Amino acid sequence: MADLPVLRIAPSILAADFAKLGEEIRAVEEAGADWIHIDVMDGHFVPNLTIGPAVVKALRPHTSLPFDVHLMIAPVDPLIEAFADAGADTISVHPEAGPHLHRTLQTIRALGKRAGVVLNPATPVDEVDHVLGMVDLILVMTVNPGFGGQKFITSQLDKIRTLRQRIDQHIAGGGGPIDLEVDGGVDPTTTPLATGAGADALVAGTAVFRGGPDAYAENIRALRSAAEAS
Ligand code: DX5
Ligand code: ZN
Repeated sequence: MADLPVLRIAPSILAADFAKLGEEIRAVEEAGADWIHIDVMDGHFVPNLTIGPAVVKALRPHTSLPFDVHLMIAPVDPLIEAFADAGADTISVHPEAGPHLHRTLQTIRALGKRAGVVLNPATPVDEVDHVLGMVDLILVMTVNPGFGGQKFITSQLDKIRTLRQRIDQHIAGGGGPIDLEVDGGVDPTTTPLATGAGADALVAGTAVFRGGPDAYAENIRALRSAAEAS
């Protein structure tokens, strides 16, 4: 039997207690998280406003886990260096957030960071076809970006399946590894759908942070065991 792919769980701090983000990050690390997903929103590209590089920098000493930074800001290019300097490990951008995706990915990689592309529910898979050699992660949105706690959009499962095939072909052809991450409405019910379609990393806000710190380990364990069921 083939080994199961390693599943990374990335709690989205959008659902954490913003009055104690440092403690919250330490608590999810202790509870078994793999990455910390940080949703950056500008009130313009998406209809919500969250945090900037100063907060990312302040959080950096609180964990050794990689920071998976999801930029929902436009134009995105002028702020990439600030997030890199603040301690981001992966920086993911939406193709719609700038005029030249290829150049944006070059910028992220030139800063020594992992580069990600995020596909909104209506954004076609083809957007990444010609940049596969420059990305470390593809993030499929299973909600429209802007808010936590929304319902998982199942029409995105086809997109995840298609990307799984393209990534596997890319790797078989000698290309580097690419993580396939899913973001939005991920919980123990939707997890097997996402992982069954080929996702190997899951962002979860509500499903990890519900119930407070005493529940985080069990919440993460529930996601992992739901994935094994697929
Ligand atoms: C939405 C964000 C998500 C969000 C997920 O724009 O990109 O990361 O926090 O939240 P849940 O898991 O609650 O759907
Ligand atoms: Zn996100």
